[in-house]
Amino acid sequence: MVTTVHPLQTVNSQSLTGKLQRFHDELLCDYPDICRLACAIYDTNSDILKTFINSTREGHAIAGYEVKLHNTPSLLELANQQQSRVIDDISRQIHAGTPHSDWLLEQGYLSSFTIPIVRQSKFLGFIFIDSTTKASFTEGVQRDLIMRCNGICDAIANELSSAHLLVATASAIRSIAHLRDFETGMHLTRMAELSKLIAHNLPAEKALNDEIIEHIYLFSPLHDIGKIGIPDSILLKQGKLTTEERKIIQTHVQKGVDIIDAILAEFNLIEQSDARIMRNIIAFHHEYLDGSGYPFKLKGEQIPIEARVVTVADIFDALTHERPYKKPWTTAESLAELDDMVRQGKLDKDCVWALNKVIDQAERIVSTYRDVTQ
Ligand SMILES: [Fe+2]
Ligand SMILES: [Fe+2]
Repeated sequence: MVTTVHPLQTVNSQSLTGKLQRFHDELLCDYPDICRLACAIYDTNSDILKTFINSTREGHAIAGYEVKLHNTPSLLELANQQQSRVIDDISRQIHAGTPHSDWLLEQGYLSSFTIPIVRQSKFLGFIFIDSTTKASFTEGVQRDLIMRCNGICDAIANELSSAHLLVATASAIRSIAHLRDFETGMHLTRMAELSKLIAHNLPAEKALNDEIIEHIYLFSPLHDIGKIGIPDSILLKQGKLTTEERKIIQTHVQKGVDIIDAILAEFNLIEQSDARIMRNIIAFHHEYLDGSGYPFKLKGEQIPIEARVVTVADIFDALTHERPYKKPWTTAESLAELDDMVRQGKLDKDCVWALNKVIDQAERIVSTYRDVTQ
């Protein structure tokens, strides 16, 4: 049986954000001027450096920011040289012109220290430390901070590598089971991109942090992993499904949870904070807010936000693409259908609102990652 989790609990003290905030509390005892700690992570495939976790005690946190590392020469050099960098006087040394430097100047931080995160010779991202006084980071302070940041860097490296291990394992299982024959790689990419887009554009009061959004991005393609346990004769059937066949299809949710639980147990990752996000996506992506979904018939707040996001992305993707029983719908028709499902009390209105808000970006995702057969 799946344990249901209140959506708000996804931001928990075991998350990396929680760990970073506790670490910041400790640092403040010795360094009361450190007003911000943040980590940006790097994706080698896309060359993208993106905001991930932060503990911001003064100023506004920067979130949802992505940049190509090769477009930021100063950081690229630090990554290549695996060297830290001190800026003693931000207002004089940093020049306006990029969204990041404009933001930095607006916050009034006066000095900063940047440490690359490198594990097993691989560059994983940066830790940024900002201070409210000039020239805070003397050589002694730098040495101390590098040493003290080791723990949080290990935690970040471990969590990222286990998240990627889970995704790689699930993908291996999927390809062995030939799930790709009927679920294209493009659908999985679109699910990752659309889910991230929705998660990132939720209204301010429902905003998710970058850590959760990254995990939604990584784990949303696994939502239907349980389909590998459904016979092809049913999964690939062209005609109308019988009631019995529909019931069998619906077992893909519990099968998915069982598969993921087995993987988590095998790798000893049950306690991993991001594992719950993955489990919630797989377990609850067919639940509707009015309790008419399956298999748990959860209602309203019982359905975690990560599952609501993936549900909207999945339905939008199904509507805008060809199926054996239908032609692709236009974006406008698909949005109208989602609005209708909001009115019926099935879908999260904020998730549909978010998709509506950035529908031009959603259209780009759909056309960039279009199925080859269409
Ligand atoms: Fe599904
Ligand atoms: Fe799907």
